[in-house]
Amino acid sequence: MEEKEKRMYITKMIREECEGFEPYVAGKPIETIKREMRLERVIKLASNENPLGASKKAIEAIRENLEGIFYYPDTNSYELKKALSERYEIKRGEIFTGAGGDEIIELIGKLFFKEGDEIVISRHSFIRYEMAAKLMGAKAVIVDMKEGFKQDLTAMAKACGERTKAIFVTNPNNPTGTYNNKEEVSEFLKSVPLNKFKVKPLVVLDEAYFEYGLLERAYPDGVDFLRDNENLIVFRTFSKIYGLAGLRVAYGFASEEIVEYIERIRPPFNVNRLAQAGGAAAIKDREQVVKSQELVKREKEYLYSEFEELKIKYVKTAANFIFFNAGALKGRELFKGLLKEGVIIRALDEYELEDWARVTVGLHEENEIFIEKLKKVYNK
Ligand SMILES: Cc1ncc(COP(=O)(O)O)c(C=O)c1O
Repeated sequence: MEEKEKRMYITKMIREECEGFEPYVAGKPIETIKREMRLERVIKLASNENPLGASKKAIEAIRENLEGIFYYPDTNSYELKKALSERYEIKRGEIFTGAGGDEIIELIGKLFFKEGDEIVISRHSFIRYEMAAKLMGAKAVIVDMKEGFKQDLTAMAKACGERTKAIFVTNPNNPTGTYNNKEEVSEFLKSVPLNKFKVKPLVVLDEAYFEYGLLERAYPDGVDFLRDNENLIVFRTFSKIYGLAGLRVAYGFASEEIVEYIERIRPPFNVNRLAQAGGAAAIKDREQVVKSQELVKREKEYLYSEFEELKIKYVKTAANFIFFNAGALKGRELFKGLLKEGVIIRALDEYELEDWARVTVGLHEENEIFIEKLKKVYNK
C-alpha cells in the first residue's frame, strides 16, 4: 500500500476530539537562534524559567542517583512525597505527583471530564486547561477578566451550571501576572454552586508561581483552604523557582479520596528517578527560594521603572514575569524585532492578547540588555 493511502485508512480511527489539535510549537533552542541569526549571545526570557539555574541541592541529588537509572523509578515516589509531606505538613495520602504541571492538568481531565461536561476558566489564563477539557470531549466556558487583567472569581462562580465539573484558577495568573487575594479566593470557594451531581465542582488552584506569589502580602496559600473544601485540588511545580523545568516534576494536594483515584489512572512511572530525587532535595532548598525571590523582587522594580521611563504600559506582577503592552507594535512584531537582537520574549497571540507581550525577569545584566534592545526596536 502507498504511504499516503495507508495514512488515510488508518486515520479514520482517530478520535474526533483530537482532530482540532495542532502540535505544540515550542520556542527554538538558543543554539538554533544563534546560528540562524548569526548572533554570539542569545538571552531567553520567554518561559519563566529561573535565571539563577537549578537548585544546587537538586543537582547534587541527581548526580548521586545517576548510576541507578537502569532501575525503574519508585512508582509511589516515596521519598519525594515524604519530603513534601514534611515541608507542608500534609498527609502522604493527600499528595500526588506528575511529570510537570502539564501532566497534572491532563490527569485531572482524564479522571473527571467527558463529553457533555463543562469546565469554567478565565479568559487570558493558562491555555492547557482548555486543551485538557477538549481532549476528553468536554467544553470550556470562558469568563472575561475584571479590569486590570485579574480573574473575575465572582463571575466565574456565576458561570457554573449543572454540567460544570471543574473551575480552574491560576494564582498568580500566567500570562498576566495578577493574583487573587485571600478574601477573594475564600469567598469564591464558598460561592461555587452545586452541579447536577449535587456536589460542588472541583476547584483546581494552579499555583505554579506560588513562591513568587508569597512576595505579595495578601497572596493566599491554597493549602490553607484544603481542610474545608473537599472539592479543592492545589498543584505546584518544580519548573519555576526551583529551576527544574527540564526535569518534569510537579505535585498536587487533594483529598485522600481524589488522590486514590488519581493513583489508579496515572502511568506507573510518570515521575522518573532523577526527577523524584531532584524534587525531594529541592523542596528542602530554602536558599534557592530566598535567593530567587530576592532577585525577582529587586529586578521587577528595575523593569517597572524602565517601562515607565519608556512610557510602556505594564501590569504589576506577583510572579517572575511581566505582562506589558507592545505599544506601537503588535506583540508578535516586537517578539520578532527582539529576536533579531538576540532576546527571546513571548508574544501572546494564543491568549487573545495580540497587543501585549510577556518577559521573564532575568538576571540584572539580562534585564539591562532586554531594555537596551527594546529601545533599539522602538528607535528610542
Ligand atoms: C500557570 C502554569 N501552570 C502550569 C504550568 C506547567 O508547568 P510545568 O508543566 O513545567 O510544571 C505552567 C508553565 O508555564 C504555568 O505557567
